[in-house]
Amino acid sequence: MKINNICCIGAGYVGGPTMAIIAQKNPKIKVHVVDMNVNKIAAWNSENLENLPVYEPGLSKVVKEARGKNLFFSTDVNKHIDEAEMIFISVNTPTKISGEGKGYAADLKYVESCAKQIAEISKSNKIIVEKSTVPVRTSEKIKQILKSYNSDVDFQILSNPEFLAEGTAMRDLEIPDRVLIGGDNTKEGKKAIDSLVEIYSSWVPMNNILTTNLWSSELSKLTANAFLAQRISSINSLSELCEATGADIEEVAKAIGMDSRIGKSFLKTSVGFGGSCFQKDILNLVYIARSLGLKKVAEYWEQILIINKHQRDRFSKKIIDYIKENKLEPKVLILGWAFKKNTNDTRESAAIYVANNLINNNISIQIYDPKVKEEQIISDLSNLNPDYEKSLVNFIHEPFSNISDYNIITILTEWDEFINYDWEKVYSGIKKPAYIFDGRNILNVELIKKNGFNYIGLGRK
Ligand code: NAD
Ligand code: UGA
Repeated sequence: MKINNICCIGAGYVGGPTMAIIAQKNPKIKVHVVDMNVNKIAAWNSENLENLPVYEPGLSKVVKEARGKNLFFSTDVNKHIDEAEMIFISVNTPTKISGEGKGYAADLKYVESCAKQIAEISKSNKIIVEKSTVPVRTSEKIKQILKSYNSDVDFQILSNPEFLAEGTAMRDLEIPDRVLIGGDNTKEGKKAIDSLVEIYSSWVPMNNILTTNLWSSELSKLTANAFLAQRISSINSLSELCEATGADIEEVAKAIGMDSRIGKSFLKTSVGFGGSCFQKDILNLVYIARSLGLKKVAEYWEQILIINKHQRDRFSKKIIDYIKENKLEPKVLILGWAFKKNTNDTRESAAIYVANNLINNNISIQIYDPKVKEEQIISDLSNLNPDYEKSLVNFIHEPFSNISDYNIITILTEWDEFINYDWEKVYSGIKKPAYIFDGRNILNVELIKKNGFNYIGLGRK
């Protein structure tokens, strides 16, 4: 079946960029991205492309090209469900905060409410595409909901998880390692798979489009994230071992990564991984394993999160201990708040946890991030601790405006502008003794030491 009209429910970090690319590459298909968040849709429709709700290099160019031609953003969810032949569900699937599975299981209430709404509105056959990351066998649940609310039309369910990483989303969408499509092994199921393959094949080589059954597709997405996060926790655990032994983590990572069986990506030590997915997806995997009685499997994967928290905490403790031991003024300049560079997303950013640890130790912080808004930072801190001491938190818009005020700087996001600063000039403004805590290992250690400052990184001296 040839698709002419797509609706995507959820105009977030996945829905927005993914649909922009699908629309750009398939000019004959009308793509409507809908969301119940009125402000978000207004921002997607904003004349000023700087105001798009998602900051992602290259995104505004694609939106500019397709918006108003065959790409539309709307709050009229019902209308576009009704008109679409294919509907992507791209809503959030956060960790449950109450009820059974609280703190571990994925909360599927948004996915389920989409399924119910689709069933209630639909008057013609539709292909429903699970784009959100969900527990294995969720499509079964979606099928049940659709059937129980509407038995008059035929719904085919596909799983098409998204593998883009924020900060590189446009490149990842443009040249994906693979596009994964899971569907039923029936005549109708295969037809539905073909319809989606056809859409992707307008720019993705067929060899990179992998089709599987529904459950394999769902489980592959969760576990791909678990494998990626596992590498970061592995290298982060080694950074502590390096500190205890005098080995250098940068050298160790290079040496390990040069083994072609291991590979060099995702071996960059950091103050801990953040982002909206690694933690929630691993918690979900742990929950699934535990629910199936696989206690050891659950414990194995949970350890990745334990190391991640440990890395954030031990980095914060380094700062706190240095302040105490050296009787320094308890005041820290925080450079970077986003969970990684080239995104305005702060969900689960290590910066939130480090800042909270500092505040709890009565240390005042000044925060600078090139893309994150002040309101977002305040909301992140309050979500973690509603009673945080507000007087300890300040914001600056020029990172080194009052540089002579600081003797402690910490880098928590690896923004290029931090790497590219004229650090010689920066140091000349800092009152000594100054301590640079590099949570991303991006600075030139020799340069810092040459200028007479103390460098505290992760696993390197
Ligand atoms: P997001 O929070 O940025 O966006 C989700 C959007 O869905 C929100 O704008 C919300 O208002 C909207 N929404 C929720 N319920 C709705 C409903 N019933 N009707 C209309 N709109 C509704 O989330 P995201 O980061 O885009 O992630 C979406 C899914 O994709 C998640 O399952 C996530 O795990 C997965 N994923 C995310 C990434 C990523 O990098 N962020 C990458 C791959 C997969
Ligand atoms: C991750 C995956 O990379 C995507 O494939 C996946 O689609 C996505 O999760 C998802 O399901 O949401 P994302 O979280 O956007 O993407 O960003 P990553 O590049 O994976 O970085 C995650 C965190 O790990 C960041 O805080 C980053 O700084 C950290 N990281 C990454 C390291 O500390 N070291 C590394 O070597 C790599």
